[in-house]
Amino acid sequence: MSLDTPVAVVTGAGRGIGAAIARRLAKGGFHVISVDLDADSAQRVAQEIGGTAATVDITDASAVAEFSSSLPRVDALVNNAGIFPPAPIATVDPAQFRKVMDVNVVGALIMTQALIPQLSSAPDAAIVNIASIAAKAVTPGTAAYSPSKAAVVSLTKLCAVELAEHGIRVNAVAPGGVLTEGTSSVSADQERESRFNALVPAGRRALPEDIADAVPFFIGSDSRYVTGQVLYVDGGLTEATINFLRAAQNG
Ligand SMILES: NC(=O)c1ccc[n+]([C@@H]2O[C@H](COP(=O)([O-])OP(=O)(O)OC[C@H]3O[C@@H](n4cnc5c(N)ncnc54)[C@H](O)[C@@H]3O)[C@@H](O)[C@H]2O)c1
Repeated sequence: MSLDTPVAVVTGAGRGIGAAIARRLAKGGFHVISVDLDADSAQRVAQEIGGTAATVDITDASAVAEFSSSLPRVDALVNNAGIFPPAPIATVDPAQFRKVMDVNVVGALIMTQALIPQLSSAPDAAIVNIASIAAKAVTPGTAAYSPSKAAVVSLTKLCAVELAEHGIRVNAVAPGGVLTEGTSSVSADQERESRFNALVPAGRRALPEDIADAVPFFIGSDSRYVTGQVLYVDGGLTEATINFLRAAQNG
C-alpha cells in the first residue's frame, strides 16, 4: 500500500453491496481495504481488485482498534456491513434485537471512532453509511432492522455535525430492494418477484452495482459541501405508495 494512493475502508466487502462498492472504489483509484467477518470472501474480493483484506468483526472494539493501528492512511470509510434476520416484533428474542443493533449501528460507530485519527489527517475525508429504505418505510417481520436503519440515519446526521470540525463529511446511501446473497431467498420466487418488479417505478429490483455507483459522489470533492444527507437509491420505491394502493384495489 503506497501512502500516495487514497485509501478506502469498506465493511462487509466480502459479498453483495459491499463487494460492489469495493470494486467501484478500486476502479476510481482507491486502494480498498475489504473488511469482513468472512476471511475467504474478503480475501477473494481484495485479490480481484488489487486491494487488502482484513478479517475483522466490526462489533469487536479491540479488534477494530488493532486493525486501525495498522493503517497509516484512510481517506474514506464505507460502513456497509449489516444483518437482517427475520423475526416478528411480538416474539423477537431481545438478544437477537440487540445483535442487529450491535452490528448495524454500534459497529458503524466503532469503525467511525477508530478511524477518526486517519480521516482527520486526510485532505478530503468522508464517511458513507449504508442505511436502507427501512429507515423511512418500516419492514414488517424484520424486528430490529427498521429501528437499526433509522438509527443509522440519525447517527449519520449526528456524525456529520460533530465530525465537521475534524474535516470529515458524513452521508448515507439508503438502498431499496437489492439482489444480493443476503436477500436471494426473498427473490427466489419468480412470480412474486415479477409482481414486486411491476410496482417499482424503475421496473426492477436493484443490483449491487446500482447502489455502489451512488457512493463515489459522497467521497469525492464534488460533494465537498454536502454532509448529513441521505440519498435513497430505490428506483422510486418509497415514493410509489400509489402503485401499491392501486394494486390492492385491483386485487
Ligand atoms: N440487500 C438489500 O436488499 C438491502 C437493502 C437495503 C439496505 N441494505 C443494506 O446494505 C448492506 C449490505 O447488504 P447485503 O445485502 O449486501 O448483505 P449481505 O448479507 O449479502 O452481505 C453482508 C456482508 O457483511 C458481512 N458482515 C456481517 N456482519 C459483520 C460483522 N459483524 N463484521 C464484519 N462484517 C460483517 C457478512 O459477512 C457479509 O459478507 C447492509 O447494511 C444492509 O442492511 C441491503
